[in-house]
Amino acid sequence: MAILMCRPDFFGIEYEINPWMRVAVSVDRDLAATQWNSLVATYTRLGADVTLAEPRPGLPDMVFSANAAVIWNGAAVLSNFHHAERRGEEPFWRQELEQRGLTVTDLDRSLSFEGAGDALFVGSRLFCGYGFRTDRDAHAAVGRALGVDVVSLELVDPRFYHLDTCFCPLNERTVLFAPDAMTPASARLVRQLVPHVIQVPLDVAAGFACNAMPVGGSVVSSLAATRLEEPLADAGFATVELPMSEFMKSGGGVRCLSLPLDAGSA
Ligand code: ARG
Repeated sequence: MAILMCRPDFFGIEYEINPWMRVAVSVDRDLAATQWNSLVATYTRLGADVTLAEPRPGLPDMVFSANAAVIWNGAAVLSNFHHAERRGEEPFWRQELEQRGLTVTDLDRSLSFEGAGDALFVGSRLFCGYGFRTDRDAHAAVGRALGVDVVSLELVDPRFYHLDTCFCPLNERTVLFAPDAMTPASARLVRQLVPHVIQVPLDVAAGFACNAMPVGGSVVSSLAATRLEEPLADAGFATVELPMSEFMKSGGGVRCLSLPLDAGSA
């Protein structure tokens, strides 16, 4: 498994585009680097290959590589960031993905879409979030570009503005999700379509527990995932909890810092 990440060299809170971000709250750069390094070390220990994008000055959120694009079988649909503050990342992400041999597709400029932050595969079915960063109309376009079926989920709580803050596929039949972060109809859809769901209370999800990455039988997440150890063990997963305090100040956790590159590839 290959995971694209970006060193937090220029990470900081320089604007406020989600309810977690406060420019008045300073980030401890050294601690952020330590936390990020331990995520890289954990992935490597679990057998994943970490590949690094070049961080760029003036783009403090580039560390959140999950938002670069959604990838399936060698094809990438590039993000159209909703907020102007992050749009400067787009050409750099295109370059990083093309350099790695991916075929990059653009959506119409009028459609907001924030990559794997709002688009997650369960098996070969793509679950897409909308309501805050990604437009619902982008979903069908992404599905067409990748040749996959799409299920749209409506997010309702501004703290869970990206789907990956409240929904995490663990394997082809299991997801971790916080039903209260979406409409009742969307939560019902998840329960209907996914054979095994592990439901997460909002207060646990608010510790970025669902913002997790499954790697080789383990689920890597934030400290809040301590509260999920039991249901995860029942589902056959070991839990690895890492402190993510500095990135949570920006509204991100483990998953936001990680973009799997080989989804859908043999
Ligand atoms: N500060 C970033 C933003 O608001 C955090 C992005 C988190 N990424 C994610 N995939 N949930 O855009």
